[in-house]
Amino acid sequence: ALVVRHRMRCSGKWARAMAILREFEEKCGTPSGKLRQVADAMTVEMHAGLASEGGSKLKMLISYVDNLPTGDEKGLFYALDLGGTNFRVLRVVLGGKDDRVVKKEFEEVSIPPHLMTGSSDALFDYIAEALAKFVAKEGEGLHPSPGQQRELGFTFSFPVRQTSIASGNLIKWTKGFSIEDTVGQDVVGELTKAMERVGLDMRVAALVNDTIGTLAGGRYCNQDVIAAVILGTGTNAAYVERAQAIPKWHGLLPKSGEMVINMEWGNFRSSHLPLTEYDQALDVESLNPGEQIFEKIISGMYLGEIVRRVLLRMAQEADFFGDVVPPKLEIPFILRTPHMSAMHHDTSSDLKVVGSKLKDILEISNTSLKMRKAIVNLCDIVATRGARLSAAGIVGIIKKLGRDTVRDGEKQKSVIALDGGLFEHYTKFRISMESTLKELLGEEVSESIVVEHSNDGSGIGAALLAASHSQYLEVAEA
Ligand code: GLC
Repeated sequence: ALVVRHRMRCSGKWARAMAILREFEEKCGTPSGKLRQVADAMTVEMHAGLASEGGSKLKMLISYVDNLPTGDEKGLFYALDLGGTNFRVLRVVLGGKDDRVVKKEFEEVSIPPHLMTGSSDALFDYIAEALAKFVAKEGEGLHPSPGQQRELGFTFSFPVRQTSIASGNLIKWTKGFSIEDTVGQDVVGELTKAMERVGLDMRVAALVNDTIGTLAGGRYCNQDVIAAVILGTGTNAAYVERAQAIPKWHGLLPKSGEMVINMEWGNFRSSHLPLTEYDQALDVESLNPGEQIFEKIISGMYLGEIVRRVLLRMAQEADFFGDVVPPKLEIPFILRTPHMSAMHHDTSSDLKVVGSKLKDILEISNTSLKMRKAIVNLCDIVATRGARLSAAGIVGIIKKLGRDTVRDGEKQKSVIALDGGLFEHYTKFRISMESTLKELLGEEVSESIVVEHSNDGSGIGAALLAASHSQYLEVAEA
């Protein structure tokens, strides 16, 4: 009788844990109909954000990029890419139409976590020092022409209100950054002052968001690129808009008639989004409550954390891991998206990767196969929701551009340049995103929409834009 009672208690708990999981799954549901509503809402907000400053949660920021790379760009340029837990410095030699990227060298430096929430000077000094060291390693024969200043494309992957191609004020930090004294400042000014402090003579020729850099880098390789999407630590998109379709732009009409827009879609929000109580709690406890809601259910910084929160609830309310709640499971952000991805892709019959991740990261051992299967299922629910919503976002852009229908049998190709760790490394996420695009666009239209991985487009893109905005360009052309 004792054994029976014990079993009943256990199976009651298992049922309770599964009920928590099933309820979560139901709230995360993204049937096509719902995704279409999300895509339509995205299109509507795009219009609103272009109409007036502050007209929408979508900031639709003007990038001052009205010409994308042609291939003619020439010379030695630097790029600095800041936007996640690492930053990269690059040296690029551009050879023009025939030679393209003649040389590319880069170094990656991780940012000590305390600098992400410290002072502006400390962060920019650290970056400028790393850049100066990298410049010092410039090889023989690689110098800029005598008397010429080195030029830099600065990829700064946060929302910035640009005042020109090479200046702009930080609107707010996102992702894991929170440095109060940078908000409202011109980030090019901040970087330039730091470069002066470390004795580095370099001019920022272009300030760009990573989406803009990716769009530029993508266009350099493929003239059909019309938009770029980042699926990484954060998520965002940029695309080429007709200047006349931007009512809030009061500047001169660019010769090209076009302007690239940084949507900052991470801040998108709609009543159609499938939000759960776990997402709400994550948001409230985050560095930026109420902001970046789309980003918080899609991007790499948050997916693992959502999984952790659901598991914690299963542990607390249904003894999923036994009588005690594993202490490590209570630590925010301990379960990173790469760990989640590794568990989700475990193909071994006994799910040993899941077992070893649970052990190494959460110090949980002795899990049954049934439990591990439930955890893989949880990863799938979270990743699928994010992937399908990102596809809906892309469909929103395609609709805004009127490319969601095939006109008179004419098949105009539209290429979307994609980059970011989530897209690159989380295979199931990428596959789900791509198949959802097909599902939403239909057979015929999806034949003309191509998703292309733009490897490290944002670094090269920034160098290309520095080249096309070089202070020596007119001299050279004259
Ligand atoms: C965040 C930033 C945005 C960036 C994106 C991807 O959403 O606000 O500027 O493009 O992350 O890195």
